[in-house]
Amino acid sequence: AEDGHQLWLRYPPATGTPDRAVTITAADPLGRPQLKLAIAELKRGLAPQGVQGPFRLMTPADGSWPARYDHLGAEGFALSSRKVGDRIDTQIAAKTDLGLLYGVFHYLRLAHSGADLARLDVVSSPRIALRVLDHWDNLDGTVERGYAGASIWDWWRLPDWRDPIYTDYARANASVGINGAVLNNVNAKADSLTAPYIAKAAALADVFRPWGIKVYLSARWSAPIELGGLKTADPLDPAVAAWWRAKADEIYRAIPDFGGFLVKANSEGQPGPADYHRTHAQGANMLAAALKPHGGVVMWRAFVYAHDNPEDRAKQAYNDFKPLDGQFADNVLVQVKNGAIDFQPREPFHPLFGAMPRTNLMMEFQITKEYLGQSTHMTYLGPLFSEALQADTLAQGKGSTVARVVDGSLDGHRLTGIAGVANIGANRDWSGSIFNQADWYAFGRLAWNPDLSPESIAREWAAQTFSPAPKVVEAVTAIMIPSREVAVDYMTPLGLAHQMSVYGHYGPGPWVNTLARPEWNPVYYNRADAQGIGFDRTASGSKAIAQYSPAIAARLARPETTDDKDLLWFHHLPWTYRMKDGATLWDDLVRHYDRGVSGVENMQGQWQALKPAIDAERFEKTSVFLTIQRRDAQLWRDASIAYWQSLNHLPLPAGSAPPA
Ligand code: GCU
Repeated sequence: AEDGHQLWLRYPPATGTPDRAVTITAADPLGRPQLKLAIAELKRGLAPQGVQGPFRLMTPADGSWPARYDHLGAEGFALSSRKVGDRIDTQIAAKTDLGLLYGVFHYLRLAHSGADLARLDVVSSPRIALRVLDHWDNLDGTVERGYAGASIWDWWRLPDWRDPIYTDYARANASVGINGAVLNNVNAKADSLTAPYIAKAAALADVFRPWGIKVYLSARWSAPIELGGLKTADPLDPAVAAWWRAKADEIYRAIPDFGGFLVKANSEGQPGPADYHRTHAQGANMLAAALKPHGGVVMWRAFVYAHDNPEDRAKQAYNDFKPLDGQFADNVLVQVKNGAIDFQPREPFHPLFGAMPRTNLMMEFQITKEYLGQSTHMTYLGPLFSEALQADTLAQGKGSTVARVVDGSLDGHRLTGIAGVANIGANRDWSGSIFNQADWYAFGRLAWNPDLSPESIAREWAAQTFSPAPKVVEAVTAIMIPSREVAVDYMTPLGLAHQMSVYGHYGPGPWVNTLARPEWNPVYYNRADAQGIGFDRTASGSKAIAQYSPAIAARLARPETTDDKDLLWFHHLPWTYRMKDGATLWDDLVRHYDRGVSGVENMQGQWQALKPAIDAERFEKTSVFLTIQRRDAQLWRDASIAYWQSLNHLPLPAGSAPPA
C-alpha cells in the first residue's frame, strides 16, 4: 500500500531502466554484522535502479586502503564513482563497518533523489559525535507530548518479544546518521532503573547495536531513595555515590555499550541536587564518576526554572549554569534547549550558547511539535533548527555560530552532542502526519552536518518520500519551506511566545491567566494592556539582553535595531509604535495574522495541484490536515485579534477582514 509507514526509505522501482546485476565486493562479510547490513541495504535499494557495474566496499582491513582516506573518523565515509565504458565503478571506503553503512545510506539517498551516480565524489564525517533522539516515552506506554500514538516500546512483552518495528526504527535512524536513543521520559520514573527494565533496555540495545545506535536512559535523581532505600540522594553522600556506581555496573553488565544517563533535575518539580543545596555540577559529576569507568556520559539538562524564583523565566537557566562553567566533569554534556523558554515557534537562541566555553554544551531540539500544531499542522522544522544553529553568538567574534559551539570547534571540545525530542509513536505513519516525518529526517541530517540548508534537506526528503521527479520535488519543497513562518504568523508573530492554550498547548490562549504558576500563563509573556504589548527584557525591564555578548546586547537594547521577528520578545511597545516601514505595531501585527491565514490557503492550493502525483492515501491525509490547519489558523487569528482589541479598542487596519 502507498501509505507512509516506509518513511523515506521507499526504494520505488525505477521505470524504463533494465535491471542488471551489481557485483558487490567486500572482504569477508562473515562475522561482520554491520557489513552484512550494509550489503543487504545496498541490494535492496539498488536493485530497482538498474545501476550497472561493480560496487566495492572497503575498510583498512582490505589491503588496498588509500592513504588519502586516513583522516576519516570512525563514522565517516568516502564515496566515489566513475564511468568506465557503459558501466559505473562505485566505491565506498570507511574506517569502520558503521562508516560503510552510513556510506551506503548516503549513496542510496543520492540514488533515490535523482543524483548523477556516474560522477560521485563525496567525503563526509559527522560534525557532532552524539546524535540522539530523546523519547519522552513513559513506562505505561503513553508518550509525553507525543502526537503519533502510543510508545513504540512494548515494555510489557520485552525483553522476550523483539518486535520487528525496533529494527525498522533503527534502520530509519541509521539512514540519517542518528546514533543514540534515550528510551524513557525525562520526567523519569525510578522503575526504569530496576533489573526488569534494564533487561528490556538491553534487548532493545541488542537490536539497535548493528545499526550503530546506543541506548541511554533518563535517570530519576531520587532513585537511590526510591529503589535503594537510602535516606538521601545528596550527591556528596558516599552511600549515594556508591549506589549509583553499583547501578552503573549493573547496567553495563547487561548493556556493555550503554550510552549513559539523561537527567532533568530541579525543574518543573523534579528532584535534584539543589534539594541538598548542591549545584548542578556536583550532581552531574557524581553520576559522571559512576559512568566514567565504562565510557558513559551524563547529559544534564539546563531546562531549569523554579516556581519560587521571581526572576524572568528566560534568565533562570543562564543564572544557574553560567557560574558553573569549567566545573563539569569531562564526560558531562550540559543539554540546552535551542531557546530560553520552551520550544516556541520562534525563540532567539539560548544565551548559554557561547557563554560556557569550558563546558561541553549540547543542543536540545523538539522534533515533536508541542507548540507548532502538533500532528495536524504542516510546519516543517528544518528552518527552525537551522535558524538556531546558524545564529551567531559573537562569543569570539563574527562566525561564532551556535553550530560551532555545538560541534565543539569554537572552544575545542571533543565530546559533542545534539538531541531531538522524538516525534515517533505507534501510528501507521510513525510521526502523526506524513510531513512530520520530514522533521525526524531533517534533525538527523542537521545533526550530521549543521550547515546543510533546510531547502536541500526538504528536497532530498521529498524526492525519497514522494517522487524524484523534479516537478514534484520543487512543488513539495515550495510548500514546506515557508510553512514554519506561516505558523509563526498565525500563532505568535513579531516575537510573541507561549500564547498557546494552557490545556495541551494547541490552539490560542493569549488571555489565559488562571494557572497558579505565573510563568505558565500566556499573559506573563505578552504583557498586553490598553497601551501596548511585549516583554521588556532591556535595562528598563528584566535585563535578559545582558546575558548575550555585548555586541548583541547593544543591538537588542533598542527596538529600532532589533529584528522584527524578535521584537516583542525583547521589547514592550505601544500599540502605536512605528515599524520600520511606517505602519503602526498594531496594524503590522494584524497583517502578520492575516498573512498566516492566507499562507495556509496557499499551501492548500499548492497541495491540491499535486494530486495527480501523490498516492491517494497520503494525498488525502495531508489534504484533510491542511483543512484542519486552515480552520485553526483562522481561529488563532480571530481569537488573538479579538483579545488584543478588548484591551486596545483599535479598529482593524484597512483591508483586513472581520473575524470569520
Ligand atoms: C515542556 C513540556 C513538558 C516537558 C518539559 C521538559 O515544558 O511541556 O511536557 O516535560 O518541556 O522539557 O522537561
